Amino acid sequence: MAWIHLDSATQDGTVFDLYERDGIHMIRVDGWELMNGAFHQSEDILGELAARLARSPDPDILVGGLGLGFTLASLVRHLGGAGRVTVAELSAAVIRWFDRHTGRRLFDALPDHVRIRHGDVLALAGEGAWDAIVLDVDNGPQPLSAAGNSALYSSAGLAAFAARLKPDGVLLLWSAFEDPGFVDRARAAGFAVTRRPVARAPDDGPFHVIYVLSRSAMPDRDLDGFGLERL
Ligand SMILES: C[S@@+](CC[C@H](N)C(=O)[O-])C[C@H]1O[C@@H](n2cnc3c(N)ncnc32)[C@H](O)[C@@H]1O
Repeated sequence: MAWIHLDSATQDGTVFDLYERDGIHMIRVDGWELMNGAFHQSEDILGELAARLARSPDPDILVGGLGLGFTLASLVRHLGGAGRVTVAELSAAVIRWFDRHTGRRLFDALPDHVRIRHGDVLALAGEGAWDAIVLDVDNGPQPLSAAGNSALYSSAGLAAFAARLKPDGVLLLWSAFEDPGFVDRARAAGFAVTRRPVARAPDDGPFHVIYVLSRSAMPDRDLDGFGLERL
């Protein structure tokens, strides 16, 4: 069965399209697949890791962006009602699609401790102090869904995120590829860097990576406990 085109929207010159096939959704940006609901294992792990690595029992967690909502759903599940989650989503259409289509498959109703905000994740990071910041806005630390996103992965962007994390806070970044230059910039911004190789689907090899940037060195017990490799 072919994908059915449900809607289209333009954000700052980038075209976002929503498709559906057999109850599964997909978002494309300028024709490139940004998120496919058929494969969400690594997004689920990203949400779980954020919930488990946030050190406070009552954490403040910022997620950018919403996409189809799998990372958010996993995060909420693993927080078990604790803390507060703010989701920053740049595209008004993605938020509308979540309300009308994609979110309905994941949530009966959005929990009270979750807020979805329309805006840029770096700008919204400046409004709080975070136990964890989760970045899954492109396919890795290179702009895809918004030209301005290179600012997020630059030395200045990483320093700005570091300044908004609590002392034992962590920044997690989903990437479809290894990026040694990003790792170097993260280290220069004062982060200790670890990574968790992840598969796209249960029978796949670990093609993707979740970078975990921490303001203090990751204890050895956490490396084992969370499947992290020190870089
Ligand atoms: C790969 S999708 C996220 C997938 C999501 N983790 C999931 O589980 O479905 C990327 C999302 O980030 C949003 N986005 C892109 N740049 C952003 C930014 N600077 N701030 C906030 N959201 C952004 C996109 O509009 C898109 O909805």
